[in-house]
Amino acid sequence: MKSSKEEILKTIPQSGFFGHPKGLLTLFSIEFWERFSYYGMRAVLLYYIYYETVHGGLGLDKTTATSIMSIYGSLVYMSTIVGGWLADRVLGSRSTIIYGGILIALGHLALSVPGSVPALFISMALIILGSGILKPNLSNIVGDLYTKEDYRRDAGFSIFYTGANAGALLAPLIVGTIGQTYNFHAGFAIAAIGMVIGLIWYAMSSRKTLGEAGRYVPNPIASSEKKKLGIYFSVGGVIIAIALVITIVTGLLTIDRFVNVISILGIVIPIIYFLVMYFSKKTTNVEKSRLLAYIPLFITAMMFWSIQEQGSTIFARIADSQTNLDLGWIHVQSSWFQSINPLYIVVFAPLFAVAWTKLGKRQPTTPVKFSIGVILAGLSFLVMVIPFITGADKINPMWLVLSFFIVTMGELFLSPVGASATTKLAPAAFASQTMSVWYLSNASAQAINAQLVKFYHIDTQVIYFTIIGIVSVVIGIVLWLFSKKIHQFMRGVN
Ligand code: GLN
Ligand code: ALA
Repeated sequence: MKSSKEEILKTIPQSGFFGHPKGLLTLFSIEFWERFSYYGMRAVLLYYIYYETVHGGLGLDKTTATSIMSIYGSLVYMSTIVGGWLADRVLGSRSTIIYGGILIALGHLALSVPGSVPALFISMALIILGSGILKPNLSNIVGDLYTKEDYRRDAGFSIFYTGANAGALLAPLIVGTIGQTYNFHAGFAIAAIGMVIGLIWYAMSSRKTLGEAGRYVPNPIASSEKKKLGIYFSVGGVIIAIALVITIVTGLLTIDRFVNVISILGIVIPIIYFLVMYFSKKTTNVEKSRLLAYIPLFITAMMFWSIQEQGSTIFARIADSQTNLDLGWIHVQSSWFQSINPLYIVVFAPLFAVAWTKLGKRQPTTPVKFSIGVILAGLSFLVMVIPFITGADKINPMWLVLSFFIVTMGELFLSPVGASATTKLAPAAFASQTMSVWYLSNASAQAINAQLVKFYHIDTQVIYFTIIGIVSVVIGIVLWLFSKKIHQFMRGVN
């Protein structure tokens, strides 16, 4: 087993994919198929949950359905904590990815046969755990392909991010179309097939292209710890199982209460994480300062993702029930609107990458980029107020296309930068968890969304979009005003 980063790098072919390591293509492909399955499923899941049973759905009410979508998204990103830990201490990234992919495929399979609400929850549990353990480990291995100084590194991450979005772009057009025009379960089956294709590809090519990357366990559990952890996990597992059985049997565990518990966790977990990192003996004073700088960035990212993720919940509802889908020559499926955000990302991400390289030192600092990102998110909500106030009962779909454009430009300012800033600002002792810390900003956002969306209704939509839009813009302005101070606290990180 190789352990030092340099030795591992020697085992990885350094070219073979447009000047990048061949392994990047392997990782690009599995990320493509994993996101294909995830976003394909999400493009129709909301409709599956709230459509009447005569239309092939489960017939839940729209608000509950929207909350379930948010809580689901939240848990997917929350569970990346488990993925980071598992790879770091037990399995190594490479094996964790295989297990994750299998769980995801099984999750989609669970929905591919006609079933009821329990089948939905089983599928959700499998996909939450599967994506949580797969996603952060893929990003970690991308990092392992390059030295820290390699000038191709940022471009590597950018190509990988494009892979995710290419999958997300294609999926609604295939899974969505089949799910909505033929049968929801057939759509979910295609999502499962996509994940299986990705896994087979990965299994066949990873040995040749990834060398020893992710094969080692960076921080294996010491045998003295093993017993203690074994007891913790068994006791914890038994307590959770008993609590679940009792609350389900007695009827105490309703969907609503479950949603509320996760919403609270979404707030509590990041707070605990920060406290642990801040007060850890391994965290130096410089790192403490950087952590303080990270707090306003984290809160801004939460606000951003809260809006961005409503693209697949509130906007999906607007697309389905309030938008003119008959364009004369073509009938648009409401699920297709989910392709718009990833389409913009695929088209504009390279332009942003070139712009940052060209601007070099003259580019805005991370806090300024974050404030631009969140202000754009706010504007994407405010612009929707216009068709709400002036429109007839059916909105022109171009308003959604415009709103998605504005929020996605914000995403390009914030998301790639945020991931890289997190790796630089997190204390070294927590390096293996930095991806999870970044994904937690999305998890917390969707945990809050699960509550927020309860206020959305066709009668309240003007005020709903106005308030959220204004809050977001205000957060952006405040961050901008403090950006110099925050940048100082970042102590040399840009
Ligand atoms: N859409 C992004 C993805 O699925 C969201 C990731 C994030 O929250 N950072 O990769
Ligand atoms: N834009 C979303 C993400 O980056 C789909 O994957």
